[in-house]
Amino acid sequence: MRIEMNGICKSFSGVKVLQDAHFSVTDGEVHALMGENGAGKSTLMKVLTGVYKRDAGEVLINGKHVDFSHPKEAEAAGISFIYQELNTMHDLTVEENMFMGKEMLKGPALFGVADKKAMTAKASETLSQLGVNISPNAVMRELSVGQQQMVEIAKSLLADCNALIMDEPTAALSPHETKELFKVIAQLKAKGVSIIYISHRMEEIFEICDRITVMRDGQYIGTKKISETGMGDVVRMMIGRDIEVRFPPRKAKIGGALLQVKGLTKHGLFNDINFSVRAGEVLGVAGLMGAGRTEIMHALFGSVPADSGSIYIDGKEVSIRNPADAIKNGIAFITEDRKLEGLMLSCGIDINIALNNLKTVSRYGVLDSSKENNLAAAQIQKLLIKCSSAKQNAGELSGGNQQKIVLAKWICANPRVLILDEPTRGVDVGAKTEIYSIINELSEQGIASIFISSELPEVIGMSDRVMAIHEGRIGGFIDGKDATQENVMVLCTGGTL
Ligand SMILES: Nc1ncnc2c1ncn2[C@@H]1O[C@H](COP(=O)(O)OP(=O)(O)OP(=O)(O)O)[C@@H](O)[C@H]1O
Ligand SMILES: [Mg+2]
Repeated sequence: MRIEMNGICKSFSGVKVLQDAHFSVTDGEVHALMGENGAGKSTLMKVLTGVYKRDAGEVLINGKHVDFSHPKEAEAAGISFIYQELNTMHDLTVEENMFMGKEMLKGPALFGVADKKAMTAKASETLSQLGVNISPNAVMRELSVGQQQMVEIAKSLLADCNALIMDEPTAALSPHETKELFKVIAQLKAKGVSIIYISHRMEEIFEICDRITVMRDGQYIGTKKISETGMGDVVRMMIGRDIEVRFPPRKAKIGGALLQVKGLTKHGLFNDINFSVRAGEVLGVAGLMGAGRTEIMHALFGSVPADSGSIYIDGKEVSIRNPADAIKNGIAFITEDRKLEGLMLSCGIDINIALNNLKTVSRYGVLDSSKENNLAAAQIQKLLIKCSSAKQNAGELSGGNQQKIVLAKWICANPRVLILDEPTRGVDVGAKTEIYSIINELSEQGIASIFISSELPEVIGMSDRVMAIHEGRIGGFIDGKDATQENVMVLCTGGTL
């Protein structure tokens, strides 16, 4: 399918988000769309499919003008959309989510009844095409974010589409699942499907895309053939300058063991987990999707307590039965799922940050709105959060900027142990480097950090030591300076070095 968008403009309550934006993709092409957080990528795609009505500009499909006023119309025309923010219904099963609104029927079209058997078979088939082991009858809320993402992808594959928009599809996937997805992308491409691929992961773009279009501040910057451009060029197009270092050097002095974990076990999830993190140290955690990384962190934070094992801070055993216990002991947790646990989307940025820091923003126990505003304003400036004001609802911000707020609210709480679960998910290159610098600063203050990420270059680039998790057990440790993608993956898949 050939799609062409010209001169697209879109404002939200007077703020121009897209200004004369252009985009085009052709049959069997994988076309990357890149730009900093808030550049307008998701909005441009939502204009294409009729989620938002454009203020100006034209959209052509195979040379014909179109004007979708609802995403269902775009779907009927053969355009599928995998949204950046997962839209799954948590209480329904995998299969129900996949077939919502398009149940397979048995019998004549009008009088047919849902054909459960056929849907289960089709769902299993599509999921196994993606190389994942998820039961069609599993309830969504029991799945990890990565698995939920795979279900969303599977859902989009059900429809025989001619164009597929993927907005950060791999943000929650591990390297292994990403490879499986790339195989599927290659199959679709061979069938002539046009793919629009939005991602902040430069390595992926250079691996699978044919061309790239870069946007900045809602405007079109340019389109290049991947074979004729380099990462440095793309960064320059995105942010208008070079960034000198991707991983700023770590200068923190590493002290004694601050956090120690002994024999932590949760039946069926993880077993006999032993490790320590020293003051000023960043311990990277790597593992495949479903390896148990996130579950171990939930146990440390008390949100899903372990069955047995003990946790020590400064050599003293602490009892952590719920998050309040963890916070009292100086443990902060930046969760991977910002929508469910991290943010209140219909509240302002200021309120979201203040909620974790009630002491800082009150005077004599009463909320002081100017303190609340100052705290938020300082973080907005520090993390370069793109918003119209500190009062703007978190839900209106671009994906990457939402992630920065989650980070801000915990940093203000002055933790001693900081658990970061995918802290740079969906964050652009420039802001990633900002986040790394902030982690380094926190290390220099003596904070012990645990850094989980499915982007291996980032785990390796940021960690003093890497701990690999394989099927709920520790696969091994590697010193940061000796870690490579290869040896970390060996430990993550149950091998030995
Ligand atoms: N419904 C809305 N109401 C108000 N502002 C919005 C709305 N949707 C998006 N915006 C604003 O439009 C701008 C572009 O957002 P968009 O989500 O398109 O960015 P993006 O390029 O996809 O960024 P990211 O990489 O972080 O996902 C942002 O500044 C955002 O705050
Ligand atoms: Mg986006």
